[in-house]
Amino acid sequence: MNYSIPENFILGAAASAWQTEGWSGKQAGQDSYLDAWYEAEPFVWHQGYGPAVATDFMNQYKTDVRLMAEIGLTHYRTSINWSRFFTDYENLVVDEAYAQHISDVINELLEAGVEPMFCLEHYELPKALMDRYDGWSSKHVIDLFVEYARIVFERYGDRVKHWFTFNEPIVVQTRVYLDAIRWPHEQNSKKWMLWNYHKVLATARVVEVYKAGGYAGRIGCILNPEMVYPRSSSKEDQAAAHYYDLLYNRVFFDPLVLGQYPEELLALCRENDIWFEPTSEELALIRENTVDFLGVNQYYPKRVKAQRFAWAEGQPFHPTKYYEEFDLPGKQMNNSRGWEIYPSIMYDMAMYLTENYPDLDWFVAENGMGQMDEQRFTDETGVIQDTYRIEFIREHLRYLLKAVEAGARCEGYMLWAFTDCVSPMNAFKNRYGLVSIDLENQRARSKKASANWYATLIRERQLQVADLSDEPK
Ligand code: BG6
Repeated sequence: MNYSIPENFILGAAASAWQTEGWSGKQAGQDSYLDAWYEAEPFVWHQGYGPAVATDFMNQYKTDVRLMAEIGLTHYRTSINWSRFFTDYENLVVDEAYAQHISDVINELLEAGVEPMFCLEHYELPKALMDRYDGWSSKHVIDLFVEYARIVFERYGDRVKHWFTFNEPIVVQTRVYLDAIRWPHEQNSKKWMLWNYHKVLATARVVEVYKAGGYAGRIGCILNPEMVYPRSSSKEDQAAAHYYDLLYNRVFFDPLVLGQYPEELLALCRENDIWFEPTSEELALIRENTVDFLGVNQYYPKRVKAQRFAWAEGQPFHPTKYYEEFDLPGKQMNNSRGWEIYPSIMYDMAMYLTENYPDLDWFVAENGMGQMDEQRFTDETGVIQDTYRIEFIREHLRYLLKAVEAGARCEGYMLWAFTDCVSPMNAFKNRYGLVSIDLENQRARSKKASANWYATLIRERQLQVADLSDEPK
């Protein structure tokens, strides 16, 4: 069967600054959180690769944009690297060479007919602001971020119409302060919630600045909600899913979209000593400056079940007080990444959004599949035959288009990633791109089979899928 893809439906691809740019032109003192982590713990980065060269996008962006145009991407999303944008974060001294690079990338994209989308932070918090103010623990860092956003809008707001404050604003503090599995390994659950809150507040303040500037575009944020599935119909398993959703999804959705936190979440924060002490002025600001739209990253389902053991009071708070992971027997896996493959998340997430946030405009900002040792799929003509990626995209897009037919306000689909790029820790282990990066040969680019398939999809706007009602085999 065939799905017709609506005319204005976005079909694009994404990346981020730190995962592609490389350090070409970087000055002393311009380290980001990622650079600092890589320097502190190089041994956790796969085969020692990190952000230092990445895909060398700084020097090779013209080649990438040409390939985007060949494939026909409607949109490309990346970030501005906050840590590279200034030479002095306090006095807002812009690194003009870096700022010019961003301007050149924007012009190149526009000339190629690819609509640019930019995030102000894709984990690229300046290390200097971590050292001096403990990063997002500080309200002063929010002030500096707002001033950064103001300058960015002044410089590029006439050309870029799609802005996002953060990519996946929950991730860094979850890995660092809640789970303490990433450098600098400080377990601090209260700080986890404070960073969540300060990123919500920072978003509202940046939205306010953007609106006041009267720019002809939209501003939002990119979240990574996980579609939560309880193990069973038991009320205990259902409650586990409810708490997971509250603590990891609604903690950003509700304030950003509805302008307020769920009362239940506020009570839970007080009760668990992760209270973030919002002022009434701040809450009013959040209420009045909700986002225009959201990007939603979708990779895998989250399966949970009820806690089997009593919570040991006195240990630092963790959401696992309310749930346990559930390992579904027989689930389909992407073994390279260790993530379950379950394309129905696209439909289910779309219905979740339709039900809970009916006025929200959104699009899938990331979805994709990382594959290990991808070179082994190279054919005799030198092209990587990534049929697994084509199938992955096809199946996820099928469920998304089904949701659009059912009335979801979804504006499009962006693949992660345009080229192979550096992952946190996994570096180049799992390849995500439509375009491969040759690490042995100056980061040379070449299109994979999926690039040609995606190009045809974009040109023809028809998705061919097997009939779901196939006879049982
Ligand atoms: C998303 C992030 O969560 O997932 C990207 O926005 C990331 O930065 C992508 O690269 C894939 O995950 P990973 O860990 O395999 O790189």
